Amino acid sequence: MSSHIIKPEPLSGAAMPHLIQTEHWAMSVADAAGLSAAQTRVEIFDGRSALVVARYDRTSDGERLHQEDFCQALGLDPDAKYESTSEYERLGSRLRRLASVAADRAIDPQTFRVDLLSAVTFNVIVGNGDAHSKNYSLLLSRRGEVSLAPLYDSAPVMYLDSRFRGTGHVINGRTGIDTVDEADLVAEARSWGLAPRVAQNTVRSVMAKVWDAAHSIALPPGAEQVSDRLETLWVRRQWTVP
Ligand SMILES: Nc1ncnc2c1ncn2[C@@H]1O[C@H](COP(=O)(O)OP(=O)(O)OP(=O)(O)O)[C@@H](O)[C@H]1O
Ligand SMILES: [Mg+2]
Repeated sequence: MSSHIIKPEPLSGAAMPHLIQTEHWAMSVADAAGLSAAQTRVEIFDGRSALVVARYDRTSDGERLHQEDFCQALGLDPDAKYESTSEYERLGSRLRRLASVAADRAIDPQTFRVDLLSAVTFNVIVGNGDAHSKNYSLLLSRRGEVSLAPLYDSAPVMYLDSRFRGTGHVINGRTGIDTVDEADLVAEARSWGLAPRVAQNTVRSVMAKVWDAAHSIALPPGAEQVSDRLETLWVRRQWTVP
């Protein structure tokens, strides 16, 4: 049974240069910020770089744990991985619906909601323009208890190419990463049933820790613009600085 997932660098004319290297950077930032994140490293196989991702859906004995991505958990077609504003207007926030399906099956519903808000906040500030419903998952324990899977497939794609600025899920009505304020993250989480103070403390604490971590972990050579763009947006959106 596999213990790792290998994501090789695209062969020719890479659609997005530095993608796997900056995915490794983002996952390392998440880890250094104390968030639950899949462990990654970059390796070279036969001259071709690849991201090596440790599987989180295995026990220490190598047994498989069940996981469901958010599309599966909500019974959505995989093609509907990006939440549209029309779905949001018809059915309400997809994140809220997910929290309502999952939190009550978690050991501690409040912890589940805080974990979800931490992951959503991370993906916004790190510029992950691909944080759709197949890039978040639930993990089920052998006893059927639900928890949020560690972060995976998170990369600063918006800071590599500004066309990829979508939030994936609608956040308090917002769909562009560069339009999401701290207040939007808090309001979205309040709609899931999180107390205002808990939501605000969670968002601020993630922002402060990610700010520190992003400044302590070096970007791969050639991708230094990620840091400049992240700082420009951070100042513009008045996200929390420690
Ligand atoms: N560390 C991990 N442990 C267990 N399962 C994982 C892990 N990382 C990813 N997966 C699973 O594998 C799937 C594909 O991985 P990932 O999202 O990283 O690849 P991708 O090719 O970038 O996907 P896409 O472009 O469709 O978003 C994920 O949707 C998830 O279900
Ligand atoms: Mg993915």
